Amino acid sequence: MQTLIEEHEIRSVVAALGKQIANEYRGQPLTVLGVLTGSIVFLSDLIRTIDLPLRVGLIQASSYRGATTEPLELRINDSLLPDIYDRAVLLVDDIFDTGHTLSALLSTIRRHSPRSVRSAVLLWKTGKAQVDVQPDYHCFQIPDRFVVGYGLDYNDDHRHLPFIAALDNADL
Ligand code: IMP
Ligand code: MG
Repeated sequence: MQTLIEEHEIRSVVAALGKQIANEYRGQPLTVLGVLTGSIVFLSDLIRTIDLPLRVGLIQASSYRGATTEPLELRINDSLLPDIYDRAVLLVDDIFDTGHTLSALLSTIRRHSPRSVRSAVLLWKTGKAQVDVQPDYHCFQIPDRFVVGYGLDYNDDHRHLPFIAALDNADL
């Protein structure tokens, strides 16, 4: 395992993003919507850097099943979604890879008639997008490697690491 992004770097970039979001959403009814499970660490750090009144909600998306780095069928569960009618929704996810997850989540969220929807991701594997959508905000662009930590998992392990690390083929 090789550390790609240190804890202190994540902290400062997340804080800068929180400040930017606070400036751009001042006066709006903001709901920050975290995507389970990968966003939980990013979500909890980010919301504490947004100095505005806001609500927090959750939605679930899962595409990986077990010990694989290949996505399988994407499932979205919006049974936890709070009322977002006429709210300014900021969707928060761990990583934008092919973009299929974010794209499907945005369609699901739009069906609930929010005032606006934007997306913020911690990591962006640029150049891999297979959809016509890009994240509105991101913290770090990374190369095409499988990463874990700060919420991201491999087979549900490693989410608790406070830094981002790349797994070598030998780890997979
Ligand atoms: P996408 O739909 O291809 O953009 O994939 C997004 C989802 O795949 C993320 O929400 C993650 O759960 C998972 N994912 C993609 N790349 C990685 C990675 O490098 N490490 C861990 N999870 C990943
Ligand atoms: Mg995941």
